[in-house]
Amino acid sequence: MNGVPSRVVLFIGAVLAAVTACDRLPGMPSEVAPPSIGSEAWTRATFNTYCRGCHASGADGASIPLMDRSYWTFASDERVIAATANGQGVMMPAFSQSAGGPFTDDEVMALARGMRGVFGGSSGAGISATIVPGDRANGEGLFANACAPCHRDGAPGGSLVDPAFLALVSDQGLWASTLAGRAVLGMPAWNHAMPSRPSGLTQEEAADIIAFVASHRAAKKDAPP
Ligand code: HEC
Ligand code: HEC
Repeated sequence: MNGVPSRVVLFIGAVLAAVTACDRLPGMPSEVAPPSIGSEAWTRATFNTYCRGCHASGADGASIPLMDRSYWTFASDERVIAATANGQGVMMPAFSQSAGGPFTDDEVMALARGMRGVFGGSSGAGISATIVPGDRANGEGLFANACAPCHRDGAPGGSLVDPAFLALVSDQGLWASTLAGRAVLGMPAWNHAMPSRPSGLTQEEAADIIAFVASHRAAKKDAPP
């Protein structure tokens, strides 16, 4: 077994948690006064109900740790709103009503801004929130130095170049995961705005590394945007 199955299991668990979290016994009264949209209480409650199962900081979070400041140092409101409204890759569901989800456009926007207020802060990393093209050949050497020690087969991070793993994550998802890190699991945040990592990777280095990783995708035409 390589690193892939544990991630898949985590993900399925998160989906089940998200589904069962919505259950309410018939006839049970709901809370008295719902907090107003955009308030801290509303943001936390909405995040806990709809997002936390997949985006917690801890080992139980299956994807990018939105509760960690490291994500918000490079994430833009545009990026967060687009992903929340329309989904991303094959694993992130769409939440806007126009895409079949539960939220109005105002709620999507309020949640994006609310999460930045509650979990984040301003984006000052000087690194693009959206993936930029990179040089695969240069990325190979950088990957060997910076990533391979933890991301070979059998290493704690699991293989990133396994096509079975890459089928589950978009290039943008790789970009965001790499820059935000997973502090609780020992995955460094590679964006240089993190005090723990004053040098980090430059935007070009990060782009080159992701270009190298993504070049291992099984060739197919219908890759997610
Ligand atoms: C000190 C060890 C360490 C180093 C160095 C490291 N990682 Fe990681 N990385 C981890 C661990 C541990 C995880 C969590 C694996 C899991 O989810 O079980 C992880 C997860 C990831 C993930 C998310 C995978 C997923 O499950 O969705 C990506 C993407 C990633 N790392 C990219 C990189 C890149 C790119 C580099 C080099 C720039 C790098 N990592 C360097 C330890 C490391
Ligand atoms: C079923 C699991 C799941 C749930 C629930 C979920 N997400 Fe995601 N989300 C993901 C995955 C997986 C990714 C990475 C997808 C990829 O790029 O391959 C992601 C990516 C994202 C990104 C993009 C990060 C970036 O910068 O590229 C944002 C923002 C986001 N999610 C916000 C949310 C919000 C807000 C909620 C709740 C309203 C939510 N997610 C609920 C799984 C989930």
